[in-house]
Amino acid sequence: MVAQTIDGREFAAGIRGDVAAHVARLRDDHGIVPGLAVVLVGEDPASQVYVRSKGRQTVEVGMNSYEHGLDATTSEAELLALIDRLNADPAVHGILVQLPLPDHLNEDLVINAIAPEKDVDGFHISNVGRLATGQKAMVPCTPLGCLMMLRRHHGSLSGLDAVVIGRSNIVGKPMAQLLLGDSCTVTVAHSRTRDLPEVVRRADIVVAAVGRAQMVPGDWIKPGATVIDVGINRIDAPERGEGKTRLVGDVDHDSAAAVAGAITPVPGGVGPMTIACLLANTLTACCRAND
Ligand code: GUN
Repeated sequence: MVAQTIDGREFAAGIRGDVAAHVARLRDDHGIVPGLAVVLVGEDPASQVYVRSKGRQTVEVGMNSYEHGLDATTSEAELLALIDRLNADPAVHGILVQLPLPDHLNEDLVINAIAPEKDVDGFHISNVGRLATGQKAMVPCTPLGCLMMLRRHHGSLSGLDAVVIGRSNIVGKPMAQLLLGDSCTVTVAHSRTRDLPEVVRRADIVVAAVGRAQMVPGDWIKPGATVIDVGINRIDAPERGEGKTRLVGDVDHDSAAAVAGAITPVPGGVGPMTIACLLANTLTACCRAND
């Protein structure tokens, strides 16, 4: 079997088109323009790339983007004061503080200072609790993007066996909640899981979110399963020339694609969906604020 490729770029472009159309109607009919504030503390190069990309795509769909680049030495009090201002600003409907934060800043404290209704990342403790209890919540963007791809591919997910590899607060845990919400039988596997290959072999749906390059080989995959690869890992690629690198997922794509029914590529799978879902969450926050 050769797996069908689930094209995240195409899907994300469709979501951005829908968001842009809705934003245009809001502006033309009601004079409302959704606004997203992105806060970056320090100069982590990978975070800078993500933040720039978020800002560009926000503007491309017709929303306002407010970027706040703060010095790496910014104090907790200064950061909390900025969040307070953004919470109170009616032009700001979504607030995202890029993670990781420098070590001297308490991530939980900072995230929980964001007004839950503006928490477009879905990391605030009240959104985490709402998701876990099936209430209306802001849902973290990466797992939301994964769920949308799975729903589009399968239709109903009800009764399917899903294995999520990784138990992070950003991806693994909310992914498990979302799959449970769609009536999957969910297993969350992690670094202490016994006989991980056997656990993964049971799964109709595998979501790999561990951050280890190509750690899931094809012989762990049940024939016909759907594989969602959340990993983005840079590895050496001497075959491309000296000093060259390339991006790979947490799944060994070629061996998995020979067994799976469908698989997301890296790059071009989950990655583009994450920012598209951030834009969708910002629009949702804006609509709820103006309800
Ligand atoms: N760092 C890596 N992923 C994310 C994300 O989804 N949101 C934020 N705020 N920071 C991140």
